[in-house]
Amino acid sequence: MNILAPSILSADFWNLGEAVRQVEQENIRWLHIDVMDGMFVPSISYGMPVIQGLRRRTELFFDVHLMIERPERYIREFAECGADLINFHIEATERVEETIAMIRALGRKVGITIKPQTSAAAVEPYLELVDMVLVMTVEPGFGGQRLMPHCLDKVSEVRAMTRAKGLSVDIEVDGGICVDNVADAVLAGANVIVAGSAVYKGDVCSNVQTLLAKMG
Ligand code: DX5
Ligand code: ZN
Repeated sequence: MNILAPSILSADFWNLGEAVRQVEQENIRWLHIDVMDGMFVPSISYGMPVIQGLRRRTELFFDVHLMIERPERYIREFAECGADLINFHIEATERVEETIAMIRALGRKVGITIKPQTSAAAVEPYLELVDMVLVMTVEPGFGGQRLMPHCLDKVSEVRAMTRAKGLSVDIEVDGGICVDNVADAVLAGANVIVAGSAVYKGDVCSNVQTLLAKMG
């Protein structure tokens, strides 16, 4: 089953709760939450208090994408404020295995993430230890960018590795996904699809339905 995870980065923050309800009403089960620190990426988004505020009102599965330096500093806080899955960038820390173990010890699912210039091979040593690999399809930091096609080749590479090892690891794509390329992402081997502007720009209901139809 493929999963669509709307990214609230593109939502109207005046009405954040309503933006969450809108996708819930379309039977969406995952919410992608982008945390940026102004160091690992140029921009700053939102953090624990916002996640906690949402957690009190929704049962959605929170897929928290940490774009922060040395994520090991904050794993406990993100687990406690309501993350169900914590994705961190392997480029952001020298303590990848330790960070994975911290997330596991807190009972949360683990995702490791790579930027467009990081090779697929970089995730191989960790595949047995994680639930998901997030292959960024744009440079992290901003919504509304165009997908970089070479990143879909990396999705295929990661999928080939997980198959070869007999692992059922989820592969997520994030950045520039839209109705015109979502089927390509699935074909490449992704089964969790993040979409920000493609969900929240325009009519949310029809956007979600069109994306789901193209995802198969
Ligand atoms: C970018 C974020 C994405 C972003 C995607 O750094 O990780 O999750 O919200 O936005 P779109 O789908 O508009 O590219
Ligand atoms: Zn993201």
